[in-house]
Amino acid sequence: MSADTIALVTGANKGIGLATARQLAERGLTVLLGARDTEKAASAAKKLAEEGLSLVPVRIDIADDASVRDAATLVEREYGWLDVLVNNAGMLIRKPAVEVTADDMRPEFETNVFGLVRVIHAMLPLLRRSRSARIVNVASDSAMFAKTTEPGSMFARSHESFVYSASKVAVNMLTVKYANAFRADPELAHIKVNAVTPGYVATDLNNFNGVRTAEEGARASVRWATVGDDAETGGFFDDEGRVAW
Ligand SMILES: NC(=O)c1ccc[n+]([C@@H]2O[C@H](COP(=O)([O-])OP(=O)(O)OC[C@H]3O[C@@H](n4cnc5c(N)ncnc54)[C@H](OP(=O)(O)O)[C@@H]3O)[C@@H](O)[C@H]2O)c1
Repeated sequence: MSADTIALVTGANKGIGLATARQLAERGLTVLLGARDTEKAASAAKKLAEEGLSLVPVRIDIADDASVRDAATLVEREYGWLDVLVNNAGMLIRKPAVEVTADDMRPEFETNVFGLVRVIHAMLPLLRRSRSARIVNVASDSAMFAKTTEPGSMFARSHESFVYSASKVAVNMLTVKYANAFRADPELAHIKVNAVTPGYVATDLNNFNGVRTAEEGARASVRWATVGDDAETGGFFDDEGRVAW
């Protein structure tokens, strides 16, 4: 991959997003390090600069239409197209299932689901101009029926990720629907879109209770951000391969 390949990672100021941005930059891509806060984007880019990597900090709050539009305008002005979009930004609010109201569901859906669609919609004209574009949507093991219905599993026991898990199921289905739509449109057929799960990664999202490192968690995103033209589209993968829903 060369510096002509332009990649944007959302929520890249820390955790899995930061590791994804780092690994893509190590592979030689031009990486736009997205964060909802300008200072956070700049300080993460500075941290990677100290490791010898040059990334471009970009403000993008995926829950805000104007911010996403501004980011798309910046990409268009500076580069003219986008090759890789990693929809990594996400949030988890813990609340027992039986206490959740409809209003409680809005923030996580606003970010994890509507935010993802907001970013894809804004970046689509730029991805259209790429010769070979990739979208990676970061979902979760907690979106898997297989794990959630397994008696005694962590996901079967966890009633507090009620909204989060539902939002990540939506991410998976949106991924399949986008893949089908892109395949059917000659102008978008060069865009592969896949969902990934990073595994249980120690980050702020789970108070660092996860068992994998952020670098390990980033592997699936990086793989599907850089796959060749013969790769699949519309699938759900971890870093070892396809996973069942
Ligand atoms: N950790 C895990 O075990 C695990 C497992 C499965 C899936 N995931 C998914 O992996 C992705 C990364 O999570 P993580 O574990 O690395 O968590 P994290 O360290 O908490 O990072 C989440 C990132 O998303 C950003 N973000 C949240 N809302 C945003 C918004 N409106 N606009 C832009 N950025 C926003 C955060 O920015 P701020 O710093 O400004 O808050 C932060 O950069 C998420 O989609 C998460 O659901 C994580």
